[in-house]
This record gives sequence, structure tokens and C-alpha cells, in this order.
Amino acid sequence: MSAPFRQHWSLDPEVRFLNHGSFGACPTAVLQRQSELRARLEAEPVRFLHREVEPLLDEARAALAAFLDADADDLAFVTNATTGVNTVLRSLRFAPGDELLTTDHEYNASRNALEFAASRWGAKVVVAKLPWPVPSAQAVVDTVLAHVTPRTRLLLVDHVSSQTAVVMPVARLISVLRERGVETLVDGAHGPGMVPLSLRSLGAGYYTGNCHKWLCAPKGAAFLHVRGDLQAGIKPLVISHGHNSPRTDRSRFRLDFDWLGTHDPSAVLCVPHALKVVGGLLPGGWPAVMEANREKALAARKLLCERLGVEPACPEDMVGSMAVVGLPDGYPERPEPPLYLDPLQLRLFDEHRIEVPIIPWPKAPRRHVRVSAQLYNTHAEYQALAEALDAQPR
Ligand SMILES: Cc1ncc(COP(=O)(O)O)c(C=O)c1O
Repeated sequence: MSAPFRQHWSLDPEVRFLNHGSFGACPTAVLQRQSELRARLEAEPVRFLHREVEPLLDEARAALAAFLDADADDLAFVTNATTGVNTVLRSLRFAPGDELLTTDHEYNASRNALEFAASRWGAKVVVAKLPWPVPSAQAVVDTVLAHVTPRTRLLLVDHVSSQTAVVMPVARLISVLRERGVETLVDGAHGPGMVPLSLRSLGAGYYTGNCHKWLCAPKGAAFLHVRGDLQAGIKPLVISHGHNSPRTDRSRFRLDFDWLGTHDPSAVLCVPHALKVVGGLLPGGWPAVMEANREKALAARKLLCERLGVEPACPEDMVGSMAVVGLPDGYPERPEPPLYLDPLQLRLFDEHRIEVPIIPWPKAPRRHVRVSAQLYNTHAEYQALAEALDAQPR
């Protein structure tokens, strides 16, 4: 399975890997840097963790801030987007009757965190059901706005939804909600590296994003961005030395988040290298990488829609580097839980060596297939998927 960029990743050559979206995939050059950092840590743990890690963290944060067009002082490293979402939701205080707004596309773990926060304070989760298929970005904004009331305190929204791969109009949502005095928590698990981002101009109260997905950093690299005026209200899930540190040379936000107890910081320290390695694979840098992946996802969507005889689920301007395509009737039904993975997904892997998620949506037994597009993918892999889907007994 030779592909122009495949040699930069250590992915199993026997597998057509069409699921970058779930956990990302890290290039070998970045993993090599991580091994070097770990070797350095273990050669002298005290020197590394007491004296060397802080400037390295600052360097990583500065590189990430430049990429995200953010102020480094507003960025905290966390281990994943789930932690970022929980950090905000478990810091905020709500009153009984407050409404926490989200959409029916929200990622299950983040929705759970929202439900948990609501139940703790006697608040209520309000779910805006978006039209499906999604006709336009404006339809998303209108539907969300129709659910805003004087009791709405927060909007939790995916930047790019996991189950439906829709790039949400977060800039418009943040701005119209702010006009109504409502802050937005953006679950940007898929945002960085998939879509161009300027956190400065987005102006979200809270934005959490993964670096281990589309930035291709090692697993455990993610960030939480909190607007300056809201930072005093946000505490890490783990209270550590920063809480009573007498230092005045850096903000309490930074002191709080930079040391959460002994851990391996190598994943976040590799963020600058991941930015350099992946951004260096195309002459146009990151904008070209994002655009190439998007073009590939759109081409894959077109191919699969034509082959399966279905319509696209959202306009092209709401597609990033993932796309979903509805499965027509006739595929064997998905069994009831507790079986986690769809039997069709398992069959595609076992019989065709295709790694791709089959997702129940909008409601079982309706399902769709979600393809990811990363530099290492080729159009031939989506063709193989289309043929394999066609070949399934129906
Ligand atoms: C929208 C969304 N939010 C949150 C997550 C969770 O990311 P992580 O497992 O890195 O915390 C995902 C993972 O796919 C996601 O798609």
C-alpha cells in the first residue's frame, strides 16, 4: 500500500487506515523526538522535572500559541479534550434552574460531563436538535438560538462533531451568544490542524482542543484556552503546588496548570516538533495540509455517496477532513448494546483490512460510515471501501 506520505507514519502497512479522527496517528519523526525527551528525563529525573521542564513547556506553549493565534498566557496544557471540557464544567458554578445548552451532535463524554455538572447544581441540560441533513451553517445558528432563554448560562458545542463530522459555525455561535450574555465552551477535539483557527478572533470563553488528533502530536497532548477575564474561575481538576505558590513571575492560571503532580510531559513537549514535521510535508505548510485533507475528504464523500446512491449530509463548506455518508437500508442491523462496535465495522476490518467507524445516526438502526483524510491516505483506499461496502451481503 504505497502512498506518497505513508513512510512518515508507522501505521500497519496491511491496513487501510481511514480513521485518523478517533485517536490521530503520530509520525515516526515525532515519536523519535518523544523517545529522546523520555531518555533525557530518565537520565536525570530531578534535573529534568525540576529545572528543565518549565522552559520547555513555555517553548511548546509559545509554538502552539503562534499556531492557534492565541496569547500563550491564556493556554494551559491538558492531557486530552475530555479533560479540558471537564475542567471548565467542574469549575463553573450554576444555580438551580440555570440552563446549559448543547446540540444533539455533542460527543458522548462531553455530554456526560455537562449532565454531571447540571445535576450537581440543579441546573438543566437543554438539547437543540439540529436539522438532519444539515441544510446550512445558518440553520445551525438559528436552531441553537431558538433554544436560548434568559436562563441560558453556557453553550457547549463541538467545533467539528465526532458522530457527524460537521464543521460547526462556532464563530457565529460564540458571537451571537455573547451578545445575549452567554459564554461558549467549544469542544475543539478535532479543530486544531483540521480547520484554520484564530482563538484570538473567535473570542470563546473556553476552547479546548487536542494536539494528538490532527496536529499529529503524541497521545496526551491537548490544551485548554480560557479568555483572560474568565481565568480566575477555572481550576484544574487536580489541585497541586501552584495553588499556593508564592511566585509572582507568572499567572496563577499558569502556575495552577503547569504542574499537576509527577507525570510524563513528553507528549506536549513534542507539539512544536509535530507542527514543524507535518507542516513541513507540503510546500504550503499547514494551510496546504488542511486544504489537501479537506479536498481528499470531499472527494471520498462524493465517491461514496455516488456508489451508495445517497445525498451528502451537509454542505461542502461544513466539511473538514472527515465526512460521513449514510448507509442505505439493507445492511445487517446493528445489534443492541453492550456490543460496542458495529458488526459491519468489524467485518470491514476482518475481511478487507479497512479501519473505518460505522456510527449509528441519527438513531439506530440508521447508520453512517465516517471517513477521515490525512496526508497518508490515498483515493484508492476510499475506492476499496466503496467496493467493500458494495460487496457486503444486503
Ligand atoms: C467532539 C469530540 N470531543 C471530545 C473528544 C474526546 O477526545 P479525547 O479522547 O482526546 O479526550 C472527541 C474524540 O474523538 C471528539 O470527537
